[in-house]
Amino acid sequence: MSSSALLPPSIPDVASFHDEPGGLTFLRIKTALATAEISLDGAHVTRYQPAGCEPALFVSRSSAMAPGKPIRGGIPVCFPWFSARAGHPELPAHGFARIRRWDVESLSGSNESGVTVVFRLGADHATRELWPLDFVARMRVVVGRKLNVALEVENCGDVPFRFEEALHTYFCVSDVRKVSVTGLEGAAYFDKTDGFQRKELGSEPLRFDAECDRVFPRTTSTCVIDDPGLRRKITVEKSGSHSTVVWNPWIAKAAAMADFGDDEWPGMLCIETANVGDDAVSLAPGEAHAMSAIIHVQ
Ligand code: BG6
Repeated sequence: MSSSALLPPSIPDVASFHDEPGGLTFLRIKTALATAEISLDGAHVTRYQPAGCEPALFVSRSSAMAPGKPIRGGIPVCFPWFSARAGHPELPAHGFARIRRWDVESLSGSNESGVTVVFRLGADHATRELWPLDFVARMRVVVGRKLNVALEVENCGDVPFRFEEALHTYFCVSDVRKVSVTGLEGAAYFDKTDGFQRKELGSEPLRFDAECDRVFPRTTSTCVIDDPGLRRKITVEKSGSHSTVVWNPWIAKAAAMADFGDDEWPGMLCIETANVGDDAVSLAPGEAHAMSAIIHVQ
């Protein structure tokens, strides 16, 4: 059990906090509907498994599991920038939200209804050194027969700001070479494996036979991963998100990543609910924005 005094009370037999030897604290949830684990570092969902189903999310066996290090898998929260920050390659990739400890603002639910947890990250001395703006971010996670994750960002300062964000979801797949993704047919994308060239998908579902690192701007539709190997479809329905990022590192990139097993790339696929590039969000003082993804395993 966790020793931290700042955590809300556990829900007996349903949701409780656990300190791991490596320094992370996880919220573990088990209900009649699903099992889940969420690290308080990053407000990072590392496990979601609806009852009777295989796990929906991939986590690398080589991932770091330590404060201040990104977790390779699950749902990293990217904020307030995506990838390298333009003009600042020395800053943490995908922003600081995924490597900061978040507070737990509330925890509620039951075995029958599922569990809702709200994490909070506010500006402090350390975030202002990286990004000198006053914000509050809340990550609301609802663990039920579906997984609903929502990132809300509020401008608490007195100047407008603009930010990027992503729910960088790693899905477990049987074999990425044998799955297809619908929902992006005909969409334009920037190909990060080919110098950011702008290209367009055809009318067929997206399939994979090489490294894929594509940013689809102005895409709001639901994506479905059709995985015949696991005999399931995973639906990613979103709101407040205008970009979709699709990523699989394939062989060479997988081998180059220290926190990813060389042979793990066939078993994962990232479909990221995002607002990046020209879809970055602008907030005037006092304004707030919410982006959410609803993940359903069928
Ligand atoms: C994807 C990016 O979203 O995340 C890729 O489009 C990147 O370019 C990948 O390689 C993983 O990023 P990181 O920082 O977690 O290694």
